[in-house]
Amino acid sequence: MRQAMAQAEVGDDVYGEDPTVNLLERTAAERLGKEAGLFVVSGSMGNLVSVLAWCGRGEEAILGMDDHLLVNEMGAVSAFGGVHLRPVPSDRRGLMDAAAIEATVSPDGMFPRTALLCLENTHNRGNGAAFSADELRPLTETAAEHGMAVHMDGARIFNASVALGVPPAELASVADSVTFCLSKGLSCPVGSLVLGSADFVARARRVRKMAGGGMRQAGIIAAAGVVALEEMVERLADDHANAQRLARGLAGLPGLVLDPADVETNICYVELADGEGRDLAAALKERGVLANGRQNWVRFVTHYGITSEDIDEALDAISTVVRASASVR
Ligand SMILES: Cc1ncc(COP(=O)(O)O)c(C=O)c1O
Repeated sequence: MRQAMAQAEVGDDVYGEDPTVNLLERTAAERLGKEAGLFVVSGSMGNLVSVLAWCGRGEEAILGMDDHLLVNEMGAVSAFGGVHLRPVPSDRRGLMDAAAIEATVSPDGMFPRTALLCLENTHNRGNGAAFSADELRPLTETAAEHGMAVHMDGARIFNASVALGVPPAELASVADSVTFCLSKGLSCPVGSLVLGSADFVARARRVRKMAGGGMRQAGIIAAAGVVALEEMVERLADDHANAQRLARGLAGLPGLVLDPADVETNICYVELADGEGRDLAAALKERGVLANGRQNWVRFVTHYGITSEDIDEALDAISTVVRASASVR
């Protein structure tokens, strides 16, 4: 990637003249089975420009109550675009129910027009759950019946594709627009893609410029994305196998609550029977194991550069820390 970045052919992408960005956008659109693509700096910016390309001020988007777009993106679509977010309950995998969506869509008239349904695949807070097109279709059909567009936050759609053994385009086919991140399992330093029809991408491109996201010689970072799409997708299976190995090891440790069967891709959430996730994460950091922790949970994510030996080493460290804190209690 570093070599490709150093050698990238570049131009001014605000004028659509960066050949490497154009190649990345074309390649990503082909992979996802969409007409056009747009390179953005982050998954959050991808979601922002997508939602604002679909919804006007005072219109609303329905999404799951644990979706990243709702919980982790600083309310950006509301702050910058005046878009009202309407969460509906979802299950522990992060999946909404068609009936709940049906019941939430605003009737015409005195309520904000429901313009969009947002989906997340894989689902971050849902333990990295990977949803097939068939699982999502009842939701997207409900949206279609109400004239709503469908946006998929596919930050990790390639993980879903590898886990389910289906092409990413099949998963993206149920949505009108999709974002995915280059900077997560695909291992790039920066960047995400927004894909959809040429008309949608033209609108998203205007919003990107409005948000200060127009980049000039961005081919330098897009070059890493081209390498990622060629070389970093199939290996996501290793991350999934490592997450399973980790989950199976963690399941035997005192005070940790998880079922390895719930780990579908590269994300492994663990519930703590007792204690604070932040404290456990801090104790693990001292032993060289990085994890996110809050309230009663800790989240582990596997990625490129983490080997099965690293997982065993991490398990040793985690075991030492949780056994020590169990003996204190
Ligand atoms: C499901 C999902 N969507 C979007 C994002 C946002 O990506 P970024 O951190 O590049 O803004 C994340 C980041 O973790 C995510 O997990």
